[in-house]
Formats: sequence, structure tokens, C-alpha cells
Amino acid sequence: MIDEGTGALPEVGVPAARVLEEIRALRAADRPTHGGRLFAYVYDPGVAGLDELAQAADAESAHVNGLDPTAFPSLLAMENALVAAAARLLGGGPGTAAPEVVGSVTSGGTESLMLAVKAARDARPDLAEPRIVVPVSGHAAFAKAAHYLRVALDQVPVDPLTLRPAPADVAAAIRPETVLVAASAPSYAHGVVDPVAEIAAVAAAAGVRCHVDACFGGWTLPWLRRLGAPVPEFDFAVDGVTSISVDLHKYGYAPKGVSVLLHRDPALRAPQYFAYADWPGYTMINPVIASTRSGGPIAAAYATLRHLGEDGYLRLAALTRDAVAGLADAVRPVDGLRLLAEPESTVVCFTSDDPGLDLFVLVDELTARGWHTQPQLGYADLPASVHLTVTAAVAPRVAEFGPALAEAVAAARAAGPVELSAELRALAGSLTPEALTPELVARLAAGLGLGAGPVTDRMAVVNTLLDAAAPALRERLLAEFVGLLQRPSW
Ligand SMILES: Cc1ncc(COP(=O)(O)O)c(C=O)c1O
Repeated sequence: MIDEGTGALPEVGVPAARVLEEIRALRAADRPTHGGRLFAYVYDPGVAGLDELAQAADAESAHVNGLDPTAFPSLLAMENALVAAAARLLGGGPGTAAPEVVGSVTSGGTESLMLAVKAARDARPDLAEPRIVVPVSGHAAFAKAAHYLRVALDQVPVDPLTLRPAPADVAAAIRPETVLVAASAPSYAHGVVDPVAEIAAVAAAAGVRCHVDACFGGWTLPWLRRLGAPVPEFDFAVDGVTSISVDLHKYGYAPKGVSVLLHRDPALRAPQYFAYADWPGYTMINPVIASTRSGGPIAAAYATLRHLGEDGYLRLAALTRDAVAGLADAVRPVDGLRLLAEPESTVVCFTSDDPGLDLFVLVDELTARGWHTQPQLGYADLPASVHLTVTAAVAPRVAEFGPALAEAVAAARAAGPVELSAELRALAGSLTPEALTPELVARLAAGLGLGAGPVTDRMAVVNTLLDAAAPALRERLLAEFVGLLQRPSW
């Protein structure tokens, strides 16, 4: 759809209405961001008028620059209000066990985790080789932070039944060089809450910071608890929890680009900042990774929180809770499918126990019927699974899901499991990432229907190949495949 001859920078500017038409035409190929049939990537409350409000708020502040809070006090005021709201929801603020809590607004969960790791690392300049301890169920952004910041990552296994790490294993993984221990509330993959109190206790006993990654669930667990769900302690009420991240662009239902990183006190936050005066330009002081940053997402988040209010979030949490229960009830009776974890937050995650029912084929069959779920590859002793992030907009769709799932299961059984060719299976089993040449990647991509033309909705073969490969080869293959997609459209 992008004009081949002129691309993003035509010789003569294109009228506004046509530009918008072009963008809308491009968007037609996307997954549906609204309507409760996309179970990853988006968080849709299904509240009429909220998008319009957030867009208007974004427009008010889009050109405001977060680089300098003294130049734009509006942004500082909104950031401080968001931090206060997050802190209060998560057990901090006046009259709580964490009265000195402070925080920063970041661009997303990954940035919040990177800054939590940076603060922990830079608080220990005496260590030549700092390390962090993270359960394998912790979000991949911890690994990214470790990679970017040159901090060693010590992973702790999770129990294949509870999908949680054992606190004793966390304790055993802590070394003199450990600067941070992580726990999830809940984990993205399975939606289970780690034993935060026990993990924070072993971290505190070792004198190490403990970060609770509540990016995903920090804005739902408190409402679910108020609705009567048995949510374990996971916030600043727990001694030893030193920082918490919560994403407003997830269950805060704000548009993308906003997360909050909280620290129990200002001294814990201090090493998060970067200041630089050793050049002739303006003295730079950045609380977060970006320097120039738009006020738009922050204003949009502020508007979203103020408009929904506590009563709105409670109502949305109740809808989500009921939708989760309804989806789980749709999965339970299906022959061959099994919930990997009993839902305790906003995730439904199931696996297949039947070799005749291929999960990756099932995901494609659901996609073909307009239900977009997320396949998760097998890892260590955890089987491949299907992940559903459930938001409030799913509630009106729940009754349609069961019949669609039954149809998709029947179609997947009829199609049978993916059979990789002998060559592909051998490659997946034996190839090392280093042996992956550009020619081999091109051949594999062509064989899998990737690389040229629109991305296919039939991904079962690709997922089966990745599933058969070791993690290091998965990483390399995906990087190569995405590299093939990211080419300038000349
Ligand atoms: C638990 C958890 N932590 C961190 C992240 C990373 O957040 P983002 O994609 O906003 O960078 C996610 C994203 O799903 C998450 O679920």
C-alpha cells in the first residue's frame, strides 16, 4: 500500500486526508486492537469514549518535552500524580509501611526493569562483576537489562507444577556479587504470582535489593483483591521489597508508552539517575533512559486514570475476572487440552496432552476464526502452551469463545500435527547459531513462507521448527527472520 515511487517522503506533500486514508489502509492488515479477540499486545477496556479522551490528552502534550521538568511543569505535575497513584495502589505513601516511596514514569515495562537493574548495579560500584537473580519465569526484559548493562544473569528454575521458584533456590542463587533479586506479580507467561514475601525475605537477609515486576499485574491484583480474590502480599507492604514496576499501558488501560518504576525511598532511586555536566552544552539530568521524550503518553495516561477512577478500575477488574473464569471454563472440558495453571490473575494458559492435537496448529485455526492467541514454545521441562492475556473487552465475547475453540480443535485434529521435513528437524536439532549462514537463513525463510510478501497467518510450521530448536538457536533464527522483514521499502 505504501506508494512505491515516493514512500514516506514524496517530492510533493500529500494532502492530510489522503495520508490518513493511507495509514488506515495499512492498518487494515493489523490484528484487531479492539473488540476482545486479541489476547496479547493490547489492553482494551472496551470503555466508550476513552480512546477519544486519551487521544485529545495526548495531542495537548505531544510537543511538550520531558527533557527538562522545570521548563514544562505540566508534565512534572502529571508524572508526580501518576507516581503517587501507583504508589498508593501498591502499598506506599503517607501512612503506609513505605511512606518515603518515590518513582519515575518510564516508556514501558522494559525500561522500568532496565532502570531497576541499573539502579541496583550503580549502587554497588565496588563490584567488578555484578549479578542479578531472576526466576526463569521472570520477563525476558530482565535478560535484556542484564545484557545491555553487562550484569550477569543467574536464573532460578520454577516448579513445573506451581510454575513458581522455590525461595530456597533463590537464596542459594544469591552470591556476594548479587545486586538484585527479582520476583513477578504475576509472571507474564502463566499469570502466577511468585512467593514475593519469601523471596524478599531471603534478599533482605542477604542485604540485596528485591524488585517486584508487577508490570503486567500491578494494576489488576489490588482490584482483584478488593473484589475478594485471594491475592498474596506482593507490594510495599512486604518488608524487603525495594522497588516495584507497574505498566499503565497494560491494565492501566492507557495508550502505549507509560510505566511507573517505584522505589521504597529516594536513596534507592538515586543511582537510577544519569547526570552529565562535562561538556559545553546544557547539563543533562535524566531520571530515565530517554532524554527528549514526548509528554503525550504521560498526559494520555493521566487522563485515563482520572477518567476511569477507582470505581472504573474495580468494574473493569470484575469484568476481567469473570471473563477469565469463562474462558477457563471453555478450555477445561476440551479433550486433550489442560490448563497449565489455574488462573489466579488475568491470564489463561493451556497446553495439550494429546499428540494428535497440535497446539501450534490450534493457534492457527483460532486465528483463522478471528481469535488471536499467543503460542509459547516449550522451555526446559515446561510444555509448549497457548497464552491468553484477558482484558475487560473480552467479557462480551466469552460466550462465543467456547464454540470457536471446539471448532478450531476439531479442525486442528483433522489437519493433524505439523510434520517437519527430515531436513528441517535435523537442522533444528543439530544446527548451532554460529553455523547459520545468510544463505541458509534465506533458504529456511523461503521454505517457511517468510521473508517476501505479507507475513502469513499460518505459523505452525515456524513455531514447530522453533520449538524443536534450543533457545540460542531460536534467538538467532528469530533475529534473522525479523531482519529479513525489516528492510527499507525503496
Ligand atoms: C511481567 C512483565 N514485565 C515486563 C514486561 C515488559 O513490558 P514492555 O513490553 O512494556 O516493555 C512485560 C510485558 O508483557 C511483562 O508482562
